[in-house]
Amino acid sequence: MIIHDARFLTSNSRAELCPAPTLPEYAFIGRSNVGKSSLINMLTERKALAKTSSSPGKTQLINHFVINDAWYLVDLPGYGYAKVSKTSRAEWARMINFYLRHRTNLMCVCVLIDSRHPPQAADLEFMEKLGEEGIPFVMIFTKADKQSTAQTKALLADYLKKMSEIWDELPRYFLTSAETGLGREEVLAFIAEVNQQ
Ligand code: GTP
Ligand code: MG
Repeated sequence: MIIHDARFLTSNSRAELCPAPTLPEYAFIGRSNVGKSSLINMLTERKALAKTSSSPGKTQLINHFVINDAWYLVDLPGYGYAKVSKTSRAEWARMINFYLRHRTNLMCVCVLIDSRHPPQAADLEFMEKLGEEGIPFVMIFTKADKQSTAQTKALLADYLKKMSEIWDELPRYFLTSAETGLGREEVLAFIAEVNQQ
C-alpha cells in the first residue's frame, strides 16, 4: 500500500466525540512506551505525525489519523504504567472499554507487544478480554532492532508457545521495528486486505 496522505484529525477523551464512523478503523493499543506512536509514524513514513516520548504515558487521548482519505488509524493511551494513579487507571479502562465496545467501524485492534520481554500478564489479560468480547485483534511485536535476530526469534517462539496454551487458534502476528521499518509492508498489506473485505 502506498501512503499518499496521512493527517491528524482529532484527540478525544470520549468515544462518542470521535470522528463519524464512516471509514474502516484500526486501533493501536498496548503497554505505555511499547512504541504505538512510533509505529504509526513508521507506517505512514511521517516522522512526527504521532507524538512519541521516551517517558511512558505520553499519549493520553483517543487520537484519530486519516490515511489516504480511506481509513482511520487510532493511537490510544498505553496501559500498565506503574506510576499512574488508581483513578486514572479506572478512567482509562472506562474510556477504552467504551471505545472498544461501541466503535462500529473498528475492523481490528492491533495489540503492540515489546519483542524484548517475556509474556506479561497485562497483555495476556487484555487479549483474553478482546477474545471474550469478540473483538478482532492481531499482535504486533515492536522494537525488533533492540536485540539480535536470534534473540528475537527465541523470545517470539516462547511468546507463541504461551499464547498456544491460552488460544486454540493463534492470533495473527507481525514483527516490527520503527527504527528499521521492519514489518511495514506486512502490516500495511494486512490493513489493505481487511479494507477490501
Ligand atoms: P505511550 O504513548 O506513552 O503509551 O507510549 P507509546 O507506546 O506511544 O511509545 P512511543 O512510540 O512514544 O515510544 C516510546 C519510546 O520507545 C521512544 O523513546 C521511542 O523512540 C522508542 N521506540 C519506539 N519504537 C521503537 C523501535 O522500534 N525501536 C527502537 N529502538 N526504539 C523504539
Ligand atoms: Mg504514544
